[in-house]
Amino acid sequence: MSEVHHGVLGLFPDSVLVKGARLMIDGISAEDLAADFGTPLVVYCEQTLRGRARSLKAAVAGGHVAFGTKAFANVAVLRLLREEGIGVDVASVGELAFARAAGFHGEEIIVHGNNKDAALLSEAGVEGAAVVLDAPDEAGLAAAAGVRRVLVRVTLGVDADTHEAIRTGHHGSKFGLPPAQAIELVEDALARGLDVLGLHVHIGSQLADFDAQAETIARLASFAATCREVLGWTARIADLGGGFGIRHTTDEHAIDASILASSAVTTAHLAFAEAGLPGPEVWLEPGRSIVGTAGVTLYRVGAVKRLPERTWVTVDGGMSDNPRPQLYHAAYTALSAGRADEPVNERVSIAGMHCESGDVLIDDVALPAPRRGDLLAVPATGAYTLAMASNYNGVPRPAAVLVGGGVARLIRSRETIADLLRAEV
Ligand SMILES: Cc1ncc(COP(=O)(O)O)c(C=O)c1O
Repeated sequence: MSEVHHGVLGLFPDSVLVKGARLMIDGISAEDLAADFGTPLVVYCEQTLRGRARSLKAAVAGGHVAFGTKAFANVAVLRLLREEGIGVDVASVGELAFARAAGFHGEEIIVHGNNKDAALLSEAGVEGAAVVLDAPDEAGLAAAAGVRRVLVRVTLGVDADTHEAIRTGHHGSKFGLPPAQAIELVEDALARGLDVLGLHVHIGSQLADFDAQAETIARLASFAATCREVLGWTARIADLGGGFGIRHTTDEHAIDASILASSAVTTAHLAFAEAGLPGPEVWLEPGRSIVGTAGVTLYRVGAVKRLPERTWVTVDGGMSDNPRPQLYHAAYTALSAGRADEPVNERVSIAGMHCESGDVLIDDVALPAPRRGDLLAVPATGAYTLAMASNYNGVPRPAAVLVGGGVARLIRSRETIADLLRAEV
């Protein structure tokens, strides 16, 4: 095996290894998975999911970890996370339905949204879920819908070092409210008899380091102190949102999420103590750092075009199953899953099969000279891929399987053409 493989394998789930020419995921070859379930296929590794969930749960000690369902809403995965003592954060009636189908209820659920509809608020009320208020008039709407437990989302003007589309804590963000308006929302919620549990911040996703979060926590403590001074109200909970990054390519760096989680808890306790406040219970809402590395997408190679300018290797999916390259200029890498023992001797671009020149999955990757029929494995594709998938070009969305204990089980069926036509009138 070449050095290149060693580096790339570090991006794959914990149970992945190379055996001869074959990439194996929890003892099952990627070629067998593709043969049994078709491609494109998103393969989730149970060992990695449980491992990430456990280490985050341990890192927050007495706090609460709620999975950011938006990263991948899937009943089987949610059920597995619930077994590990993880809660959920949902941002629509649909995500709430996935959570309920997985057995989540009541205090295990946090409800988000910068424009929650009446149905979501009333379902949250029925559930007894904690609702994160995110609009000036939302305390009244929530109270009328029967919601009892709320937090208030505040934007504290911290610019996270991440793509602008996933940066959310800056002034002018569509999420949360700046301090002057957030304190009015706390006051309004209290006046309406709501149990205002605490404050919420989420500054962005795929954060490069802890700097922006440390700054946010410091500002949050100072805002919590102002709330106490002005309103006589003390935040019991500091919900610090999600955002821990993962590595999608060998060029990217990421600090282990459990280290970041325990830093967040320690930093919050210190900052609140310095502000003269009791230590809050810390809640976290990681999405990507739980499911991102656990997922691998398998694609079958079709057309290969060796042009003077570059070599295009086209796969049987693309922006319909993973729109992140177009949305965030996200970079990925790939491994030839059935020829993993061969030298990577050609630099190519991996194109999707959609009618867009921008449908490029990977701009530049080294592979054993690709040919039609090869199987490519793209690591770190478990978060915000299937969750954001579309039917562009009338393409059915892919299947997902969960591998664990040497067994692969279907956790999402591949859509069919009949599924596509079902909504037509
Ligand atoms: C409020 C909130 N919580 C949690 C998350 C999950 O973030 P991540 O997947 O980066 O951990 C998001 C994602 O955007 C979010 O908006």
